[in-house]
Amino acid sequence: MRLVPIFSHDNGDYELFRNEIIHIARKNLRVPNDGEWYTSRGGLRSPVIDDSCPMEPDGLSVFADLNNWIEWKLNESARELFSGLSVRLKINRSWICMNRARSGDWNVPHDHGSDNYLSGVFYIDVPSDDCGNLYIMNPNVVSFFKSGNERSYSDLSEMVPREGRLIYFPSDLVHFVGPNLSNVDRIAYSFNSIPVDPLSGKKYSTGYSSEFTDSVYGMIRDIHKSTSSSGDD
Ligand SMILES: [Fe+2]
Repeated sequence: MRLVPIFSHDNGDYELFRNEIIHIARKNLRVPNDGEWYTSRGGLRSPVIDDSCPMEPDGLSVFADLNNWIEWKLNESARELFSGLSVRLKINRSWICMNRARSGDWNVPHDHGSDNYLSGVFYIDVPSDDCGNLYIMNPNVVSFFKSGNERSYSDLSEMVPREGRLIYFPSDLVHFVGPNLSNVDRIAYSFNSIPVDPLSGKKYSTGYSSEFTDSVYGMIRDIHKSTSSSGDD
């Protein structure tokens, strides 16, 4: 049972660009510098990819195509979550992460902050099981209450990585990645997204005081008001 929105989509065309994207991903991976704090325990990372720091040297087009597909899916979900709200989601930050074969490399529990809206992962190279599942923790307090062996509520959603699979969820959900115990490197592409006004291009923060959140609350209040008033009549 899941009590929070978690989305999963498979890219049916992944075979067409798989080899190119693995090649480019490996060229951009490095051991994190001393002092850099990452969620990785072991493993390699790419530099952060954003507007001011695009991927080098030749990864832009294949990752731009991937971003377009991910944003298409994100916006399908955004319409489902906030129907009627005219904003689009845009990837504002992304990076590649490799947990090495037979290393036990893993990622500690963390979230992607309240400044982002939906965050997620696209699996680039995960050719076998036991390379580290994704665990997303249920934020609802009720999930901690269980009776006997009955698991009426789940406190963890376990997601098995598959090549070409995209998984995303609200950015403030705590999640972690199990250790890579397989004989292959596990390479994944992670990202954050934020709402952008489709006309002006203005980027919104999703912090509680943001204009975007205010507009969502305003919309909910309007719906609530119209529902209440029709009930009173
Ligand atoms: Fe993460």
